[in-house]
Amino acid sequence: MRLSLRLVVSLVLGITLVSTLFTYYEYREEKGRREAELEKRAADIGESLQQAVQPALANGQRRVITRIVEKFSNRESLAGLAVYDTQGVPLAITPQLQDRFVAEPEILKTAVANSKVIGQFAQMQDVTLHLYALPLHDEDGRPLGGIVIVHDATFIESELKDMLRNTFLHALVQMLTVSLITLIIVRLSIQGPVTRAAQWMKALRTGRLTPHAAIPDFDLFPPLAYEVENFANSLQAARASASAEARLRLMAESSWTAERLAVFVKEKLQGSRLFVISNREPYIHQKNGDKGPKVVVPASGLVTALEPILCACDGTWIAHGSGDADRSVVDSHSRLRVPPTEPKYTLRRVWLTKEEEDGYYYGFANEGLWPLCHIAHTRPLFRIQDWEHYRSANQKFADALIDEMSFTVSPVVLLQDYHFALLPRMIKRARPDAKVAIFWHIPWPNPEAFSICPWQTELLDGMLGADLIGFHIQSHCNNFLESVDRTLESRIEWDHFTVKRENHITAVHPYPISVVFPEVPPSSLVEKNVTMAKAALRKQLGIDPLFLGVGVDRVDYTKGILERFLAVEKLLESQPAYIGQFTFVQIGSPSRTQIKRYHDLLEETSLEAERINKRFQAGSWRPIVFLKHQHSHQEIQPFYKAADLCMVTSLHDGMNLVAKEFVAARDDEHGVLVLSQFTGASRELQDAVIVNPYDIGQIAKSIHLALTMDNAEQQARMRRMRKTLKEQNVYRWAGNLITDLCEVRLDANGAIHALENKDQDFAQAS
Ligand code: G6P
Repeated sequence: MRLSLRLVVSLVLGITLVSTLFTYYEYREEKGRREAELEKRAADIGESLQQAVQPALANGQRRVITRIVEKFSNRESLAGLAVYDTQGVPLAITPQLQDRFVAEPEILKTAVANSKVIGQFAQMQDVTLHLYALPLHDEDGRPLGGIVIVHDATFIESELKDMLRNTFLHALVQMLTVSLITLIIVRLSIQGPVTRAAQWMKALRTGRLTPHAAIPDFDLFPPLAYEVENFANSLQAARASASAEARLRLMAESSWTAERLAVFVKEKLQGSRLFVISNREPYIHQKNGDKGPKVVVPASGLVTALEPILCACDGTWIAHGSGDADRSVVDSHSRLRVPPTEPKYTLRRVWLTKEEEDGYYYGFANEGLWPLCHIAHTRPLFRIQDWEHYRSANQKFADALIDEMSFTVSPVVLLQDYHFALLPRMIKRARPDAKVAIFWHIPWPNPEAFSICPWQTELLDGMLGADLIGFHIQSHCNNFLESVDRTLESRIEWDHFTVKRENHITAVHPYPISVVFPEVPPSSLVEKNVTMAKAALRKQLGIDPLFLGVGVDRVDYTKGILERFLAVEKLLESQPAYIGQFTFVQIGSPSRTQIKRYHDLLEETSLEAERINKRFQAGSWRPIVFLKHQHSHQEIQPFYKAADLCMVTSLHDGMNLVAKEFVAARDDEHGVLVLSQFTGASRELQDAVIVNPYDIGQIAKSIHLALTMDNAEQQARMRRMRKTLKEQNVYRWAGNLITDLCEVRLDANGAIHALENKDQDFAQAS
């Protein structure tokens, strides 16, 4: 039976049952009430009659009795009256009763015999009557006879019938209304959305849906919509990877995909497990009113690269629990399973006090090591209390990791970045059988610059606990090895880029990080996507310049944002034809604003943008649009697609993924990348227009060059850069790094430890 019919029938039956019960109850109540009223009316007449008839009867005044009876006989719904003497002889009787009440009725005989009033209903010749019998006495209480008062009671039944009819009509109208409303609701809120969702799913199944097409309105079933959407995403991802794999097989190409990486690394791990440590966690839980915590995924290439591997080997990611709702979703070991939509690996959160976070993260890592490694004219601050917090926070992460690794033999550990220089040594000391790598995402300075750090020995010694140290480019590896050479007792093999210290060998190699290279849509969509992106930005920003430039950065003094703004000013000064024609949009997500330098920089860059805008703006056009908030990956895409150029003018940068993201987004093979020579990315993307970010005039000229570059040249450059990125994607980065780590040969200590662990494991298992 169809849902609507089932609903309507159930409602009709329900309403019928309820109304029948209520009607029955009401009928009984009403009948009782009306009968009692009639009884009362008869009693009132009886009382009046009694007072009038009794003296006349005692005095034998028969005519008086007849007159009294006649007088009373026209009362409302009264069918008649009769007065009898003690012998049952009628003394007076109204004409209507004369046929039926010649003989004294039984009811009166009983009333007189028992000397009490009796009222009852009786059926006579199809008429319902109410009889009220009243005995009469003289003053001394001797019986004189009796009175019968007769009412026609048929009106009660007909009134009750009317009531039943009305109730039935009400119930009918109610049933019709409820059924109609139910049908409308079913159609609008269930059938409509379900039909649209079914059509949507069919389109998805048959491949007629464009990727990321929004699920139709499913308002009544949010949990279902949530699952369907995840299901659809998984299906689309699986399809995309299957077709990519098929294409690769066809082309016998060795491109890296998430799936290939997962399978490859799983094989390399040989049953062991992967542990990743980073300061920033892959999923942050934030309070969200009474809706329960919301999950935020920080825009990070690292999650994209490492998640497929962790999922494939059920690994563990250890990170600082920084969200204000993080504690509410973990178990008693501070763990939770992620990704939230399809849990496949463990996230272990480490809790830091405010003092620890201030000292370790804001202090030593970001006010000490960050400027030390970037050399961007911000003096590094080294405070003893920050160093102590850095050390104790590293120990806290090490303890958490050691706890997580307790049941894993020869675990593979991948540490991320400058927050954890001391961790490799701490881990190796406790678990020599672990294979440990640390990847340093920022530059390594020259040995002179590094030597200003009061704790250079401890930092280098901590890092050399690792089996493998990774940087983005060879020159950072060289700087690191030179720093070691100058600071520590060790043997450096420049042929193999290894350091031998106290019988332990550490390899130091470059692994240029990258981005996911997205699937190129069919050529018919490429042009359409650019047009849509331009239209979206016109609507969002309210500007429509002939030329558009874009920059995307955390607001950080290493990124050269100010230099970029000054270059735009210089361009407008030297080439006034661009006034009203060229707008530069800077997306700047505020970062580490608790640190004064970062806080001031945000203010400084905003004021500079305002100053330049005031100088040149005309009508609704302005040269700089500064969007100072975090943008998601999806939100940034239209900017990349619509821009004529992207500016990356970092004063110093380990790699810079914005440069790579811009190139990866340009499937139309147009647009120009203006790229600082001090980024790691400039080594790979040599077809960018390379600039010295300290030379404002040169950047201005490069903008002009980019805006006047002919299409063929743009296309040739973009094609070559895209080819590089397609081959060197983020999965290759992770694959290379983990392969090298898995292939590390443990020294004697580690190998013995691994054997002992295996034995213990074996003993436990048997
Ligand atoms: C740089 C660092 C990363 C860091 C990122 C964001 O790229 O190398 O380790 O995660 O900046 O900075 P934040 O301090 O917000 O994590």
